[in-house]
Amino acid sequence: MKHLLLAFPGWLVTAALAQDVPALYQGADLKLGEKLIAENQCDACHIRNVGGDGNAIYRPAGRVSSLGLLRGQVEACNTTLNLAFFPEEVNSVAAVLNRDHYRFK
Ligand code: HEC
Repeated sequence: MKHLLLAFPGWLVTAALAQDVPALYQGADLKLGEKLIAENQCDACHIRNVGGDGNAIYRPAGRVSSLGLLRGQVEACNTTLNLAFFPEEVNSVAAVLNRDHYRFK
């Protein structure tokens, strides 16, 4: 599959990103995750809480210390904030946060 994608230059980025999805988050759509994070004011609210670019809210060494807990936290936000994400959307958001901040294997 990866080799197939690499055959098309336009898919290079997609192929590179696909490697950033751990097995537990199989099927995650990173582009969808990025879109959902942008559309649901995650950063805006986190900035209000921690300042800066809001990324200090993501603490890999804290309570959220594994892939399972990270996805659970996104699911909890989903419920609390009434975002009505589908499971695959929660999975995709968690995958983006893991790629950019937590980097759990
Ligand atoms: C209304 C404000 C608000 C919005 C909107 C919000 N969050 Fe949060 N989020 C928080 C607060 C406050 C915390 C810190 C909670 C704590 O430390 O117990 C937090 C913590 C988190 C954490 C855990 C950080 C860690 O490592 O402990 C994750 C993951 C997270 N948010 C994801 C999201 C995502 C994804 C979205 C958008 C879909 C989102 N949040 C939208 C307020 C918000």
